[in-house]
Amino acid sequence: MSSETGEDRTLRVKDVRKAWPRADGGRRVVLDAVSFELEAGGTLCVVGGSGSGKTTLLHILSGITAPDAGSVSLGREDLTAMSESGRDRFRARHIGYMFQTFNLVGMLSAVENVALPLVFGGASPSAAKHRAGVLLERLSMSDRADQRPAALSVGEQQRVALARAVVADPWLILADEPTASLDPRNAADALALLESEATRTGASLVIVTHDPAVRGRYARHLVIGDGS
Ligand SMILES: Nc1ncnc2c1ncn2[C@@H]1O[C@H](COP(=O)(O)OP(=O)(O)OP(=O)(O)O)[C@@H](O)[C@H]1O
Ligand SMILES: [Mg+2]
Repeated sequence: MSSETGEDRTLRVKDVRKAWPRADGGRRVVLDAVSFELEAGGTLCVVGGSGSGKTTLLHILSGITAPDAGSVSLGREDLTAMSESGRDRFRARHIGYMFQTFNLVGMLSAVENVALPLVFGGASPSAAKHRAGVLLERLSMSDRADQRPAALSVGEQQRVALARAVVADPWLILADEPTASLDPRNAADALALLESEATRTGASLVIVTHDPAVRGRYARHLVIGDGS
């Protein structure tokens, strides 16, 4: 399916395989021939036990980790065929990643962290901070916007990470346990923001979750475990 502008933005995952080395010298197969397609604007919920490979899959979808075999493409762009620098540029422009461990920049305030992808994309720092501030306001974070991550609670850091993942209108939003540290009201606000930003920009959304309430919100699930 195409986006409003006619660009093909379908996420196509074909026969992706990944094994990690084990301490005993063997290899543990984490992803064994994972294939799916997600049309522009669609949402896929990824579920599976701890250690089943959910974060590994998101890393592969974003090009941070290379699969052992198989391919990942977004629209006409094949991430698995790009050079490393080409993949880094593509990720910065088109993929918003909300990390399970947040990966916020400790030296920057919350609003500066959220503004970062816009500044990388060439926006003026003041315009970028304004847009970042609007998103933080929608997550009830206005009064925390000037604090550095170390002064924020884990749930507040999680909301900063979410805002940073959506701020630059990515084609694909990858969210790893986006509500894990949030109370039910903030969790609902966070999911509503993810969904509304995805709808506004026509982005596809891949959400990893352990939470049955999150899982129940979405019709399409990918269950991973035992390498399958
Ligand atoms: N860089 C790595 N080197 C070796 N093994 C790894 C590496 N990254 C992940 N693994 C292993 O791969 C398996 C899957 O890890 P992954 O982080 O993808 O799980 P997960 O489903 O996200 O788990 P959780 O729900 O706890 O976040 C685990 O057994 C983990 O130890
Ligand atoms: Mg994980």
